[in-house]
Amino acid sequence: MSQKAVVLSGMRSTGPLHLGNYFGAVKNWVGLQDRYECFYFVADWHALTTDYADVSQIADNTLEVVADYVAAGLDPERSVIFVQSMVPEHAELHLLLSMITPLGLLERVPTYKEQIREIRNKDLSTYGFLGYPLLQTADILLYRAHLVPVGEDQASHLELSREVARKFNRFYTEVFPEPKALFTPTPKVPGLDGRKMSKSYGNAIHLADTDEEIRAKASRMFTDPTRVRRKDPGHPDACNLYDFHKLVSPPDVQEKVARECRLAQIGCVDDKKLLAELLIEYLTPIRERREALIGDRDSLLDMVAEGSRRAQDRARETLDAVRSSMGFDYRKLAAEVSG
Ligand code: TRP
Repeated sequence: MSQKAVVLSGMRSTGPLHLGNYFGAVKNWVGLQDRYECFYFVADWHALTTDYADVSQIADNTLEVVADYVAAGLDPERSVIFVQSMVPEHAELHLLLSMITPLGLLERVPTYKEQIREIRNKDLSTYGFLGYPLLQTADILLYRAHLVPVGEDQASHLELSREVARKFNRFYTEVFPEPKALFTPTPKVPGLDGRKMSKSYGNAIHLADTDEEIRAKASRMFTDPTRVRRKDPGHPDACNLYDFHKLVSPPDVQEKVARECRLAQIGCVDDKKLLAELLIEYLTPIRERREALIGDRDSLLDMVAEGSRRAQDRARETLDAVRSSMGFDYRKLAAEVSG
């Protein structure tokens, strides 16, 4: 048995990662790799819950996310990096857990109610969509994870997984630890327009963006709305640009920009140009690693297959325990007879 606590997290494969995903999640995951036994995966079946009508992008997106993970510093040697659908045990555990999960628990999950209300262009009244957080529960319990690094928006899903783990342990035998959410302090990552950075708002900077795309996006960023003329003093703390400086610029640059902005010595246009170059400097090594990974698709597929095999070994151990706990031991009994 390993001594280290198990960490598990994942993202849906709905598109390439942006800076909100990076600073809000993946960068934190990188830092957990030495202290914990880490499992990081791409939730391609979860992408189906909303994208079932057009599946053409899911596979490519999945590989892009894997490349983003590794380029951002997840290490396939130290962490198990895998794809959900390549470990079909997720589906078996999901099915078994569905038998003990009251519908009311799923119907009350706030993200469910919210998305049903907000997303009008897709029919989300499916069995799979209601079961989204239970599939997530299976993802977590399958590795008997102790800690799940996620954003605050996932709190209710973690609550469900704890509830289901308790229920299983009570009905049958104690198989699952109760997973805890690990809410790492996440910095503010605004989008270009000042709203939260999000794929669906079209306001994101991606890890894959070229230098020219970054320059063009930086030039479109919203700045301090109270600074109307060049000679007006600015307010770095009320400015999106400055939020980005806090993420990517060296401390002396941050300090200089803030001072010169308050004194109206630097204008917003020049600051955008400066920020673009600092973003490029920060992102270039990540983008280069990512391009190398995407460019060698065979090796990337190999890496994912190997990670998924390692994940599957662990998943099978858990499912053996689950089957025994529930009395579905036929395979084991048959092996004893023939052995
Ligand atoms: N629901 C998560 C999100 O939207 C993605 C996810 C799926 C996940 N399965 C998980 C996160 C298991 C943590 C653990 O970001």
